[in-house]
Amino acid sequence: MTLSGSWTKLDMPSLPEDHRLQSLLTPLLNRRLAASPRPDFQDSPYWNESFFALSQCRLFRDASDEQRQTILNDCNQQILEEAYSIEKAGMAYTAKMSLLSESLEERMVYSLFGADEATHFQGIKLFLPSPVSEVEQPFLSFLSQLIDRGEKPALLFTIQVILEGWGLTHYRKLADNCQNPELQSMLKMILRDEASHHGSGLILTDNQDWTRATESEVTETLTSFLNMVRCGPLGIVSAFERALGDLSKSQKRVLLAELKSEEQSAQRLELLKGLMKGRDKLINQLTKRDCFRPMRPEESV
Ligand SMILES: [Fe+2]
Ligand SMILES: [Fe+2]
Repeated sequence: MTLSGSWTKLDMPSLPEDHRLQSLLTPLLNRRLAASPRPDFQDSPYWNESFFALSQCRLFRDASDEQRQTILNDCNQQILEEAYSIEKAGMAYTAKMSLLSESLEERMVYSLFGADEATHFQGIKLFLPSPVSEVEQPFLSFLSQLIDRGEKPALLFTIQVILEGWGLTHYRKLADNCQNPELQSMLKMILRDEASHHGSGLILTDNQDWTRATESEVTETLTSFLNMVRCGPLGIVSAFERALGDLSKSQKRVLLAELKSEEQSAQRLELLKGLMKGRDKLINQLTKRDCFRPMRPEESV
């Protein structure tokens, strides 16, 4: 069965604060979510300089206190904005998969996961220091198109096995290094839920034979995704540019080298390859396309 159309609608509007549906939704969410106080983000960032390896960068060390603060806040905001949009897309994904379910139990699983994603979305929103900017990020438009257009077997593998499997490591790293105890416990709750989202993906794709169409859909999707990972932490480079003004190509190259971009990407690509275990044909295809080779800083900029 195929479902097409726009599902994710990442730009969907919010209702006004005083809408009656808000007062119905809040207690529903609070039942699942211990409401947490919002700390003063400016004074105490959730993740510090060393989490982003900022102090290894000459430009950061030479910047003024105010510029350093701006860069660090920007990096913090980016992490939460990404999580916010991923959780928002997660609500659309589980709704689509619920309709595409082939057993009652599968549909129950996706309905419950949908409530998880709504809870995660609200949890992340509580901690966002500034409203989410409307600038479209390449990863988010990739995710949105994938959910909108993907066929079920390809979605199961790319979203639940690969992206949510990767998300587990990502959220664990965020939780382990988070300096705010309330946000840390929220991230740990998300992590527990995501483990079962990934686990169900493994069960539903186990030994599943792919048609040629699915094989090529998965290969194309993962080629786009891996190429983004290969580029390294370009979001951090953008944070520097927003604080310090435009950087030359050679400044960006040095910055990426100081951030150990190549090593960082190599680790991530290795982890992603590990999640593809058992799909040898896919791994060979992606290897032929150079998808597991991290880009050198001069290629990324
Ligand atoms: Fe989630
Ligand atoms: Fe999830």
